[in-house]
Order: sequence, then C-alpha cells, then structure tokens
Amino acid sequence: MPARIVIGLQWGDEGKGKITDYLAEDADLIVRYQGGNNAGHTVVVGSEKFKLHLIPSGILHPGKGCILGNGMVIDLGALVSEIEGLRARKVSFDNLMISPKAHLIMPYHIFLDSEEEVQRKERKIGTTGRGIGPAYRDKVDRCGIQIGDLFSQELFQEKVGMNLEKKKLGSKFSVSEIVKSCSDHFQIIREFVKPVNGILHDHLIHGKNILLEGAQGTLLDLDHGTYPYVTSSYPTSGGACLGSGIGPGSIKAVIGVVKAYSTRVGEGPFTTELRDDLGDALREIGHEYGTTTGRPRRTGWLDLVALKYAVQINGVTEIALTKLDILCGITPLKVATGYRIGERIQTEFPEIGGMLQQSTPIYEEIPGFKDLKRESEFYYNQYIGFIEKFLGVPVTIVSYGEKRDETFIRKEKEAGVAQR
Ligand code: GDP
Ligand code: IMO
Ligand code: MG
Repeated sequence: MPARIVIGLQWGDEGKGKITDYLAEDADLIVRYQGGNNAGHTVVVGSEKFKLHLIPSGILHPGKGCILGNGMVIDLGALVSEIEGLRARKVSFDNLMISPKAHLIMPYHIFLDSEEEVQRKERKIGTTGRGIGPAYRDKVDRCGIQIGDLFSQELFQEKVGMNLEKKKLGSKFSVSEIVKSCSDHFQIIREFVKPVNGILHDHLIHGKNILLEGAQGTLLDLDHGTYPYVTSSYPTSGGACLGSGIGPGSIKAVIGVVKAYSTRVGEGPFTTELRDDLGDALREIGHEYGTTTGRPRRTGWLDLVALKYAVQINGVTEIALTKLDILCGITPLKVATGYRIGERIQTEFPEIGGMLQQSTPIYEEIPGFKDLKRESEFYYNQYIGFIEKFLGVPVTIVSYGEKRDETFIRKEKEAGVAQR
C-alpha cells in the first residue's frame, strides 16, 4: 500500500514542489489531486528553475508517470502554454495523464472571480484571479464541465450554452468562440486524457510507489482552513484521497511540508505576522514573492499552534522542514506556542473564525544558529528539536536551499525524535 501524500501545513508556498521533486526519485507515479493554476510550485534542477502550475512536480524526472487528478480544475489555455513552455525546455510528456473527471475553468469563471472580488469590497479574499472559486462552485452545483465532456463537441456546446444562460452572461461571452478555443486547446492535450483509475489501482496492486502532491496548504482548505479566507478545494490529506481516487487504506505516509517561518498571500488572519523590519527582511532573504501572481507574501514567525492543528487534521506522519537556511544568523528565534484571546490563553487553534482574528501570539524563544553545513547541525539543531517535540512528529527531511542536493534526510532513530 505504497501511496504517500505531500501536503502543505501552512498557507501554501511551503516548498511542496521542491519536496515532491525530491521524493519523486523513488516514486513511479506522481498525482496532483486538487487546485488549479492558482498553484505555483518551484523546482530547481541544476542551474535551471521551473515554475509549475498545473503539471505535477514529478515531471522533471524522465520516465515517471504524472497524473492530473479528478480533483483538479483546469484552464485549458494555461495547461497548453505550460506544456509548450516545458517542451521548449526539453521536458518530456510521454507519461502525462489527465483524468477525464477533472473540471474545466472556463473564461466566465475567470471573469466572475474578479467581479466577485470587487463586490466583496472590504471583505476581499485576495484570490489569484484564476477562476478557481467559480469553477469549483459549478462542480458542486452540478453544472460544471469536465474535461471528458470535450470528447463530444455537441455535449460540450450544450453545456457551455446552459452555463452562459444560467449565469446571465450570454451577452458577454459567445458560445461558439468558447467552444472553438476550448476545442482547439483540447486537440493539443486530448492524447493525455484517459481513464486513470485503473492505472492507479494497477500501480497499487503491483506495489509501485505513488506520490500524491497537494497544492495550497491546510490553512487554505475549504473546510479546515481560515474560512472564508481559503481556496475552494481540499488541500488536506482527505482531499488527496478524494481528488485522486485512492482510498485511505492505501496511504502509507502523510508528509507535511513546513516552511521554517510563516508566509501568507492574500487576505485573512495571520496571528504571527511580522509587520516590521524583520518581516521585510524575511521577505527579501527568502524571496517571498508569489510564484503565480508575483504578489509580496506576508511573513511572520513559525506558528506551532496552527501547525499542531494541521498535524491533527491531516494525520501527518512526518515533517519536511524547508527554508531553514533563511533563518541562519537570526537570534533568538521565536515560535508561537499559545494564543491570547481577550483574557484567555489557549494552546488549541480556534475553530471559530472570529476568535482567530482576535488572537495574539504567545512566543517562546529558541537560540538561533549560524550555519547548516555539518551533519550534526541537522540532528541536534535546537529549533528542529523544539518543533518535533511540540508537534509530536519527526522531522525526517530538512531543506536548506532551493536545489535538490540541499536536502538532508534525518533518520528517525539517530535523531532521537519525540514519540507520537
Ligand atoms: P510551493 O508552492 O509549496 O511548491 O512553494 P513555492 O515554490 O511557491 O515557494 C517555495 C520557494 O522556496 C521556491 O522558490 C523554492 O525554490 C524555494 N525553496 C524551497 N525550499 C527551499 C529551501 O530550503 N531554502 C531556500 N532558500 N529556498 C527554498
Ligand atoms: P501553492 O500551491 C499560496 C491563496 C490566494 C488567496 C486564497 C484563495 O503555490 O502553495 P484562489 O485563487 O485559490 O481562490 O485564492 O488562496 N492561494 C495561495 N496562496 N500558495 C498557493 O498555492 C495558493 N493558491 C491560492 O492568495 O488568498
Ligand atoms: Mg507556491
């Protein structure tokens, strides 16, 4: 039962792309299970930097199968340009597969995404503007269009017409133009659209390794995130089963990716946010600008209250800690281990959204570190030790640079990690 899930435990941009690419070395199949081109996953191979939005981060390992799962929403134009851009850089798509059940992001979804942001006035979410929310809304409303619908142009045309009528957008968009542009794009990618459930289960039966790659992060999850400041899909481990068609019994490990400090793009509560020079310094040193939209990311200290919650929600079995190098030379380091809400102090992440807005962090200080060159630094680093003890989950992977070889595997028994 060798499926492993890679998920973000914060607000996205934890370094899931780098960790997925690293772990893909041992995988046979890599599956993206939710989200769309709101995601931006950066993978550095040698001197080359790749920014992936829809394509799984395993694609840079030739020969590995890569699947865009049923839980994704796909903008066909964005997919075609991503594939063409990568092909121009000699990336092979011989083993790419797309679930026919994945939903399409249509031009009217992108239009509605930006219209609705304007209408929200002071309650903006700060979406990526890629049409994600409206596309998932149609899926739930059972008027969404799946990629597989494009195999019948008649059916596709009928569905586009019904949608424009239902949304009263008939004067804004032309059915025939949408059908033409989607059909043109579909011709380029139709060879990849195939029934993937059988392929996935064959792999499981034959003991092959499957890696399920999440986009966004736990605190952006539609159910478990900081609602309504969330995305419209399920980045959490439950979403990995739903969005790939692999049952929970086949999941061997849940690898939670944690950035060594916190960042968030868009609006919404962020208890440990630093709105000062240190926050600005973290943004600059850590290059904290959105991979997809280029927006500056908000920055802050590590929030162990939120992370403990994320570990519970996902059933995390191990942690991949990234960007530790960015904290080199900062001392002391602070981590939030509790929240003050009015007169009360609590160590649980509040489940009532409004309470989170009122939370202020209670910090503990940990001495900083200067360099991360020696192996012992990774085993006995106090910051790592504090995190795994607090969360009760071993930190098995430490990333200290964007490159593949700037990754250290901590073996559990030698690290002396806390027991769950
Ligand atoms: P994702 O959305 O979770 O895949 O993360 P992003 O790719 O949006 O953002 C993470 C950024 O940090 C990327 O630019 C990575 O190349 C970079 N990165 C990942 N791990 C490390 C690390 O350990 N150290 C440094 N300095 N950069 C890293
Ligand atoms: P990766 O996969 C960081 C944020 C947006 C906004 C909210 C809703 O690279 O970690 P949406 O367009 O999804 O409706 O926007 O979610 N958001 C992300 N933040 N990383 C991402 O993806 C994100 N995808 C969406 O900024 O606050
Ligand atoms: Mg990202």
